[in-house]
Amino acid sequence: CGIVGVIGNPKTTDILLKGLEKLEYRGYDSAGIYVNDEQGNDFLIKRKGKISELEAAVTPDVQGLMGIGHTRWATHGVPSDQNAHPQVSNDGRFYLVHNGVIENYQALKDDYLNDVDFVSDTDTEVVVQLVAKFAREGLSGHDAFQKALRLLQGSFAFILADRQEADRLYVAKNKSPLLIGAGKGFNVVCSDALAMIDETNQFVEIHDGEMVTLTADQIKIETIAAGTPVERAPYTVEMDPDAASKGTYPYYMLKEIDEEPAVMRRILSNYQTDDQSHEFKIDTEILDAMQQADKLYIVAAGTSYHAGLVGATLFEKLTDTPAEAYLASEFGYHMPLLTKHPFFIFLTQSGETADSRQVLVKINQMHLPTLTITNVPNSTLSREADYTLLLYAGPEIAVASTKAYTAQIAVQAVLAKELGEAKHVQAAQAFDLQQQLSLVAAGQQQLVDEKDHFKELAHDYLADQPSAFYIGRGLDYDVSLEAALKLKEVSYILAEGFAAGELKHGTIALIQDNTPVIAFLTDPTTVGLTRGNIKEVQARGAHTMTIVSQALATADDQIILPDVDDLLTPLLSIIPAQLFAYYASLEKGLDVDKPRNLAKSVTVE
Ligand code: G6P
Repeated sequence: CGIVGVIGNPKTTDILLKGLEKLEYRGYDSAGIYVNDEQGNDFLIKRKGKISELEAAVTPDVQGLMGIGHTRWATHGVPSDQNAHPQVSNDGRFYLVHNGVIENYQALKDDYLNDVDFVSDTDTEVVVQLVAKFAREGLSGHDAFQKALRLLQGSFAFILADRQEADRLYVAKNKSPLLIGAGKGFNVVCSDALAMIDETNQFVEIHDGEMVTLTADQIKIETIAAGTPVERAPYTVEMDPDAASKGTYPYYMLKEIDEEPAVMRRILSNYQTDDQSHEFKIDTEILDAMQQADKLYIVAAGTSYHAGLVGATLFEKLTDTPAEAYLASEFGYHMPLLTKHPFFIFLTQSGETADSRQVLVKINQMHLPTLTITNVPNSTLSREADYTLLLYAGPEIAVASTKAYTAQIAVQAVLAKELGEAKHVQAAQAFDLQQQLSLVAAGQQQLVDEKDHFKELAHDYLADQPSAFYIGRGLDYDVSLEAALKLKEVSYILAEGFAAGELKHGTIALIQDNTPVIAFLTDPTTVGLTRGNIKEVQARGAHTMTIVSQALATADDQIILPDVDDLLTPLLSIIPAQLFAYYASLEKGLDVDKPRNLAKSVTVE
């Protein structure tokens, strides 16, 4: 979910709606705003569906000086007008937007709110009713909110508006992302700086366990538990507001796929030393810490996990250090036995994923070394890890991740190369990554320029298909998993990635007449075996396609990839698959950038 707030600005309604549009990638099953003009007039508008539905319902008279807004990704309660935020107390005094999950909401309801009729099914309503109850008992708005906050277990980023004190907003944070933006004569609140970058570039971090009283000209931070005042200076967010615009593209996903070659070049230039030596630079502290490690643990979710699978191979091959990728949601609660000197790498585009963060919190408690590789400087996982490396991919808005996947692989390659060099590993010394990444950028460009071809193939292979399979071995298997995820996410075709050699042990039962099976063939050691597996599925009626490195290609292959080092082929082979997903979705008339049920940044576990 995403939340926004404004205090002290006559353009409140516009700022809220624009902010919500920018946060829509975080959730879009319902949205709402509350606006108050500080003269006794106020407005509450909520709608199921996308922000455009909310905007259509906002009439020109909805104007004010303060307001709060929310775009929802349902956790408790189905998407509906009732369950949309802001949630309101029954006495109509308090309005609350919430990102996160309150775990003890049922107990709070039973203990404190037996006499209250609830309008929604949300955990959030419990909190707003609780605040109202404490206020009715005589506490000020501030004290009532603080008392309620002290009772909560779970994650939250809250903005609370009090009708009786319309010159202020109350804000609180625990585990969910939240920033205050300091404007000139006004202040704003948001889950992501992107939402408010048009209003200010000065932001103040709020830490877990803090609450804030926000007026037009003051940002008063204090701890929730003890009410101890906290001083914190703003920092400047450097973000090109245009980077987050779609320009002439019909969808962000297409724009972001097209940007992949440029991202490769940006990674090259950002990680190159300033002299003429064309060497990479990685903070020596990071390399020193990693050199102590007897195993690298890569922790991530979703597409980032798939990038981590590729990364594990890069680290093992180039640094002679065992490396393994883990799903964050599994790792934290079923932690494997750790080696003596583990080093943790958190891969996360957003830097906010709750599943990954939960692991980082545990690893920090164990005082083990941690590195976050992320696209978002100052994000939660960046702040809380010992070290950070940036992806330089530019804002990724489409829910389905594309350029962040290839950026994560490239940055891991740079890190592996540098660590391998530091450890005097021959494979790293011999690996000309500068030249290879330039070849990758050129090769990606060649592939994105072949869009029309991939569009046709997507039509021939995927139109009207209920299911599709990607197969491969080694790195090609890792890419198969990501290729299948992309297709599932945006086209809703039931797609799976399989280890090519495992097919015959069970999954081959799924193959019927015309079932699409798309094979990645970039590994010289197994290409013959996988070609054999393709024959097996062809014999059972599959409609097969091959995506092959130039060096391994034959006249019968459909897609030939420009040549790069075998370790970096995922950076090329994923591109046709990303485009297949995009075109299959378009062909079904779906909203490519906002697939149903998904959110870009999942800040609940
Ligand atoms: C969500 C997104 C995925 C993403 C995953 C991890 O589920 O829909 O596209 O891969 O989160 O996100 P992160 O920001 O940690 O890379």
